[in-house]
Amino acid sequence: MVKFTNSAAVLLGALPVFNPFVSVNADTAHGRVTVLNGVPYYVGDIAVAHIPEVAVSSSNLLPDVDVLPITVISSNSSSFSGTEFDGVIADYLARDDVFSISFLSAVYLSYTGNGAHVVEGESIATAVDKHETSLFFVSPTYAANVSQSVTKAYLTEAIPDGPYFVSTKSGQVFEAHRLYEDTHYTFLEPAVSDGHGGYRALSANSEGILGPSIAVPSRLYYTVTPEKPLAGLRMGVKDIFHVKGLRTSGGNRAYYSLYEPRNATGTAIQRLINLGAVFVGKMGTVQFANGDRPTADWVDFHCPFNPRGDGYQVPSGSSSGPGAGIGAYDWLDIAIGSDTGGSMRGPAGAQGLYGNRPSTGAVDLDEVIPLCDGLDTTGVFARSAETWARVVSVWYQNFSADYSSYPDKIFYPSASFVEDAVASSDARRVIEQFVSKLERFLGANRTHVDVDAAWNSTKPAGAPTTLQDMLHYTYGTLISVYQWLHLGVPFFADYATKYDSRTPYINPGPLLRWNIGRERGQAGWDEAWANKTTFKDWWSGAAGFGAHNNESCSEGIYIYPNSVGTPNYRDEYVGPPTPPYWGMSDSNIAVFAAVPDLVVPIGEIPYNSTKSGKAEYLPVTISIVAARGCDLMVASMVREMEAQEILKPVAAGTMLYP
Ligand SMILES: *[C@@H]1O[C@H](CO)[C@@H](O)[C@H](O)[C@H]1NC(C)=O
Ligand SMILES: *[C@@H]1O[C@H](CO)[C@@H](O)[C@H](O)[C@H]1NC(C)=O
Ligand SMILES: *[C@@H]1O[C@H](CO)[C@@H](O)[C@H](O)[C@H]1NC(C)=O
Ligand SMILES: *[C@@H]1O[C@H](CO)[C@@H](O)[C@H](O)[C@H]1NC(C)=O
Ligand SMILES: *[C@@H]1O[C@H](CO)[C@@H](O)[C@H](O)[C@H]1NC(C)=O
Ligand SMILES: *[C@@H]1O[C@H](CO)[C@@H](O)[C@H](O)[C@H]1NC(C)=O
Ligand SMILES: *[C@@H]1O[C@H](CO)[C@@H](O)[C@H](O)[C@H]1NC(C)=O
Ligand SMILES: *[C@@H]1O[C@H](CO)[C@@H](O)[C@H](O)[C@H]1NC(C)=O
Ligand SMILES: *[C@@H]1O[C@H](CO)[C@@H](O)[C@H](O)[C@H]1NC(C)=O
Repeated sequence: MVKFTNSAAVLLGALPVFNPFVSVNADTAHGRVTVLNGVPYYVGDIAVAHIPEVAVSSSNLLPDVDVLPITVISSNSSSFSGTEFDGVIADYLARDDVFSISFLSAVYLSYTGNGAHVVEGESIATAVDKHETSLFFVSPTYAANVSQSVTKAYLTEAIPDGPYFVSTKSGQVFEAHRLYEDTHYTFLEPAVSDGHGGYRALSANSEGILGPSIAVPSRLYYTVTPEKPLAGLRMGVKDIFHVKGLRTSGGNRAYYSLYEPRNATGTAIQRLINLGAVFVGKMGTVQFANGDRPTADWVDFHCPFNPRGDGYQVPSGSSSGPGAGIGAYDWLDIAIGSDTGGSMRGPAGAQGLYGNRPSTGAVDLDEVIPLCDGLDTTGVFARSAETWARVVSVWYQNFSADYSSYPDKIFYPSASFVEDAVASSDARRVIEQFVSKLERFLGANRTHVDVDAAWNSTKPAGAPTTLQDMLHYTYGTLISVYQWLHLGVPFFADYATKYDSRTPYINPGPLLRWNIGRERGQAGWDEAWANKTTFKDWWSGAAGFGAHNNESCSEGIYIYPNSVGTPNYRDEYVGPPTPPYWGMSDSNIAVFAAVPDLVVPIGEIPYNSTKSGKAEYLPVTISIVAARGCDLMVASMVREMEAQEILKPVAAGTMLYP
């Protein structure tokens, strides 16, 4: 028991109530869960249309049923037949994981052509029998002498085809969401639309011991158009992005509870929603997108589970939930994370996914918990180059995709590929095969480079002898100072005001870093920023590695191994958190030079798991770095490489290529 000494409260004869954690979220979505043939569904409470006739028909036929699954079909056939009906069902089953034959309990058929139209009475009667359809409604425009099997009824709004639920009492029609269990703990808060541009926390549980279930709407509701190129892509978002109607946790319980639900969605996420992506919930993050390891540091929340290999590998971070979720679930299409010092590229490597850090400033980052302004970026995880490229091509609006060729230089830092750096010969073989294919694709042989030697020979006058001398403390100082001043200070103050001068709980990793930030202060940040800028100017200038080119955007691409199939068990006890002095490595180049770095999966290799006692497989991935602003050139390039099968989409689950 913790004893609080609060003399004023004692004098008043009342113990101070100190419970800073919200227990009831007033904005939790309403609705209900129903199970069809063993599959749980969420029925919302926001009606999208009405079929008044349903109440009349079902009061006789289905007096005990409350909500009825219904399938909405539109057809332009002048004569709708049982064969066409069967064809529609087969098509829906092939395209959608939400629709099932259980939704054929009721059917609503509307006509979209412009001539006389009938239903073929006999064949429909047979189909209705076969599918056990209790109610078959057709729009009132069908010919007067419709079959006895069908009833005329009005649908008050034009809604997309697909599965719905209809209230037998009111005739209100609700969208159908399938509930998926979050078996890998990748979500923090599932959500559904509030129908007014915001979202509500979803509190719907299916069976299972894990967290709340995620509700995903039918894929049939969405059609890609020029205005909505991302229509229907189901999207999870790292819980450092504010979304209207929801609280933000930043991976910290005290922060989640202290602040009210947000009143605005930031530019980055709103753009994706406007382009058609379907937001389904907030996903796990290393606390405040900073640095934590699973075994000891994830104190406030449990670390998401990496599905690859034996299932007990570190998912990396800080975009752990988005990375693990895209690795685990084929019902989730894309997930948004952030990268300040590797938080996208780490999970992309650990889970074997397409995942990127864009050119810094690619999208505005308002309404996002900051780690360090000027280094913070947002990227997307996907299981195919095509989906990844489709998203970034419309999301990063300020870059051109209009280049006549791809770069014809491959900068190959030899030291990053040798045995010391890539221990496994299997991984070196996978990498070598990929680099050879890349050479053929670009029509260019690799250029062996040594960044340290290049620095020595082309560094600006007066600069330190080695990059390590200049950059060893740079990243750690930048993030520690910035996040302490811009997040820690106001958070501590707000918390102290509300809770009688108490301090909120902070995980060991970020707390250590914030203490460094407190010591170094703004002067330390200014010095670090100057060093960072020196490197940025050199990389794009004298070094030549980040140079522009009018035909190919980037003079060359710089590649290095990301993950190399080395086991990294999540239950390993390591020492207490250490300062984030990462020195200077390949993965820091994009951070300091503000250039894009995309991780692509290129293979997987076996290891003997000490957890499962079997040979399991882990991903091998490569990073592709280009000149600043060349993100969309890289997108075109990897999309074309996938079309030529040099890159391949990966599966969800234990293996990339099962
Ligand atoms: C009728 O619908 C089918 C399938 O949706 C479509 O391919 C066809 O073009 C439509 N025909 C007319 C005349 O609208
Ligand atoms: C409906 O009536 C019209 C006119 O009597 C007739 O030509 C047509 O075959 C009928 N259709 C059906 C489905 O019975
Ligand atoms: C959102 O809330 C902030 C303060 O929490 C306030 O300054 C801002 O005006 C609000 N915005 C809207 C759109 O209500
Ligand atoms: C992109 O360009 C627009 C128009 O020039 C500008 O308003 C916006 O701030 C730019 N966004 C970024 C992230 O640079
Ligand atoms: C790459 O190297 C090979 C072998 O040295 C040579 O035959 C080929 O012409 C080179 N290709 C290019 C594009 O330089
Ligand atoms: C840097 O370059 C000079 C010659 O310009 C050379 O003497 C020296 O050894 C180099 N230092 C390193 C660390 O490579
Ligand atoms: C900045 O660079 C100088 C060398 O020029 C180095 O001594 C110092 O430690 C660096 N500081 C940071 C915070 O990067
Ligand atoms: C690239 O284009 C710019 C602007 O059109 C031009 O000034 C520059 O000379 C071109 N550079 C090369 C290498 O062609
Ligand atoms: C796994 O262990 C077996 C038996 O010791 C060994 O033959 C095999 O090479 C090992 N495989 C890997 C991938 O290390």
